Amino acid sequence: MRTQVGIIGAGPAGLMLAHLLTRAGVESVVLESRSRDYVEKRVRAGVLEQGSVDLLVQTDAGERLLREGLIHHGIELRFEGQGHRIPLTELSGGRSITVYGQQEVVKDLIRIRLAAGGEILFDTEATAIEGIDSDRPRVRFTRESAEETLECEYVAGCDGFWGVSRGALPASAVRAYDREYPFAWLGILASMKPASEELIYSYHDDLGFALHSMRSPVISRLYLQCRPDEPLEEWPDDRIWHELEMRFATAEGFELSGGPILEKGVTAMRSFVVEPMQYGRLFLAGDAAHIVPPTGAKGMNLALADVKVLAEAFRERYASGSDRLLRSYSETCLRRVWRAEHFSWWMTSMLHRFPDDVGGYQHKLQISQLRYVITSKAAATTLAENYVGLQTV
Ligand code: FAD
Ligand code: DHB
Repeated sequence: MRTQVGIIGAGPAGLMLAHLLTRAGVESVVLESRSRDYVEKRVRAGVLEQGSVDLLVQTDAGERLLREGLIHHGIELRFEGQGHRIPLTELSGGRSITVYGQQEVVKDLIRIRLAAGGEILFDTEATAIEGIDSDRPRVRFTRESAEETLECEYVAGCDGFWGVSRGALPASAVRAYDREYPFAWLGILASMKPASEELIYSYHDDLGFALHSMRSPVISRLYLQCRPDEPLEEWPDDRIWHELEMRFATAEGFELSGGPILEKGVTAMRSFVVEPMQYGRLFLAGDAAHIVPPTGAKGMNLALADVKVLAEAFRERYASGSDRLLRSYSETCLRRVWRAEHFSWWMTSMLHRFPDDVGGYQHKLQISQLRYVITSKAAATTLAENYVGLQTV
């Protein structure tokens, strides 16, 4: 099997890259270890920055997003039993965010790719990447227990944090930056009318973080801080609702109606970047190259931003023979990546209870910072412009 760009992974990064390459007249094949059904049902992120929405719409992949996505002009920060609205649109020159599930983006991109006659090999696991120093790299993969090879001109590693691509970069040529957090998120999808029109990021003095998001007028998505090693069996539904009630409680009395929980899972929190994001003819994009804790809602947006840069670089390479943009790919992306790393770390540090904060010093800093964000226009603008996504970084 042979193609111009071999893409490993059918998450937002791999699928969007394939879509953009098709539009640029560049051939690609996508290899995905999971089934189509699995990737279309995997519940993950939900917030699209304005730039991500623009990218999907401008490339004719945003039709359903425009119909079903929920546009939000503000978010609420809640602490000490009181809510405070951050008017995102007002503070960011008219920009907004759109709540639209990651798996909906994935479904739309798969449908568009298959309708255009493009190739996505599901249930196909990449096992090794060879020859990235040469002009004929190869991806070895397993499909239906048979070993096969994809011969390419370039390889795009879009296979997430646990994929094979990052490990194919020579250890001597890269440096990794890593930070773990002493907590995780328990996320649920519930059949419940959202209790608020806008997202609520809440910090409770003793219990820590909770987030109220949504997917539709009848489906809510909620998260709460938990221990990283906590088994799901310790979280029966009534404990989850009780915990959420306490963390979102306000002086005026805030109520969650509750409802059947359709899905639950625990997500570890980590910050990670590998530099550079490229070696020879292997280019990493999305979670394969960097991870952020989800508090800033940046993971999926960074994945889309990377492949926008990468697709343009491949377009130039095949249109004119110049590899100028391919050579600057990593440096260009890393500027946005580090901004998002900082913002995500900052939001995470401000809104979670740190189990090692025995004397409460860190907690005092967090409350002071939250008060500053809700009282200073400069501080609120910092939050708003990073949250909706900076246009230049
Ligand atoms: P992925 O979406 O991970 O896609 C990688 C794809 O590669 C997958 O389909 C995988 O099956 C495939 N793959 C892996 N290895 C191979 C292989 N060897 N061969 C072939 N295919 C392979 N972000 C937020 O902003 N908010 C959230 O609430 C949030 N929740 C998350 C929950 C979880 C459990 C996880 C893991 C991530 C979450 N994120 C969240 C982050 C966000 O979902 C990611 O940043 C985003 O999915 C990155 O897209 P990607 O395409 O780079 O990687
Ligand atoms: C969602 C996830 C996030 O990580 C976040 O910061 C906001 C919303 C969500 O799944 O809707």
